[in-house]
Amino acid sequence: MRILVTGATGFVGSHTALALRAAGHQVRLLIRSPVKLERVLALHGLSLKETFDNIVTGDVTDAQTVRKALEDCDGVVHTAAFVSTHKKDADKVISTNVGGTRNVIGQGCELGLKHLIHISSVAALYDPSLPVLTGDEPPADSDSAYGHSKAACEHYVRELQEQGYPVSIVYPASIIGPHDPGLSEPMNALRIFAARMGVVTSRGNQFIDVRDIADACVAIIEKLDGPERIPLGGHYYPWKSLIDTLYDLTGRRVPYAPIPGPLLRMMGKLGDYVIGFTGVDIPFTSEGMQYATRWVCTDDSKFENLLGLNFRDHRETLADSLHSLYKAGHIQRKHLGRLADRL
Ligand SMILES: NC(=O)c1ccc[n+]([C@@H]2O[C@H](COP(=O)([O-])OP(=O)(O)OC[C@H]3O[C@@H](n4cnc5c(N)ncnc54)[C@H](OP(=O)(O)O)[C@@H]3O)[C@@H](O)[C@H]2O)c1
Repeated sequence: MRILVTGATGFVGSHTALALRAAGHQVRLLIRSPVKLERVLALHGLSLKETFDNIVTGDVTDAQTVRKALEDCDGVVHTAAFVSTHKKDADKVISTNVGGTRNVIGQGCELGLKHLIHISSVAALYDPSLPVLTGDEPPADSDSAYGHSKAACEHYVRELQEQGYPVSIVYPASIIGPHDPGLSEPMNALRIFAARMGVVTSRGNQFIDVRDIADACVAIIEKLDGPERIPLGGHYYPWKSLIDTLYDLTGRRVPYAPIPGPLLRMMGKLGDYVIGFTGVDIPFTSEGMQYATRWVCTDDSKFENLLGLNFRDHRETLADSLHSLYKAGHIQRKHLGRLADRL
């Protein structure tokens, strides 16, 4: 099948484009910068010449370019998004994520594509009072432009699902793994936990390997015909267990601070005031501290039952992520501890 991938210079998009290609599909990319693509492929030990020859250069907010990229395709995986929680980026986050989704998924439906995947996020549905996140919850209210944009996309794509279009939505939790072209928030959190210090507070977080998301996208394209909603949370680590697993892998004990959840949430509220008052971005926000201290686990059963896949070993994911952080210069060799032997 001919599949368009948006965002192939990003973390999820690069892995997904390569997984589709490895599965024998013809892959077309909609990207803004071939130069960046060359750099991202080099992380995988590949060159542009030996991988992709069907490239449309352009922006997902440009409806005409997107339409041209979608023509003659059987499917599309829409990973392109502006992932930023900085207040100054709010307008661009909304226009890229909501406008891009309308252009890519909306026009893909108009053109009659048979397999469409929208990469959403648990942030689109997160509600700390839920016992578990299944994918059928209503889109969430969010304070941040990013959360708001993901919820707005969710409303839009669900309308298309209700009209019967074959759009699947996937909901990743925190994505980690090798070859992140930038330093996404979960990879940055891992960097801090591995190299500086950890925090132990209530509950924990789910981490999914970027390669498992790519495999899920291939399986959705190949196996599903109708609309679906598929949570992809991955392995759940209570915070202390993340610290212990890193210790087990590296043999290095990093200091950690136990901080009660209510205290972190209070600091988050204080952070909101500081940001509102000064306009300066700081990492403590109410919303961020809710995620950190009141995590809701996803029901990932569709990954296995519907797509026939199994998650990678979570220790392998952490080890590969740490190697990748080292190779990108985000942590030092000493932070790998005994994992340095496997370089
Ligand atoms: N990372 C996570 O932990 C996480 C968790 C849950 C959900 N998600 C979702 O997963 C998806 C992929 O995230 P990611 O981590 O792979 O992000 P990423 O590494 O930042 O990649 C984003 C991609 O989108 C492209 N893009 C941004 N604005 C664009 C525009 N106006 N036109 C064309 N392309 C544009 C970027 O292109 P350039 O290289 O040109 O900037 C890049 O290729 C997003 O929808 C995100 O919301 C991510």
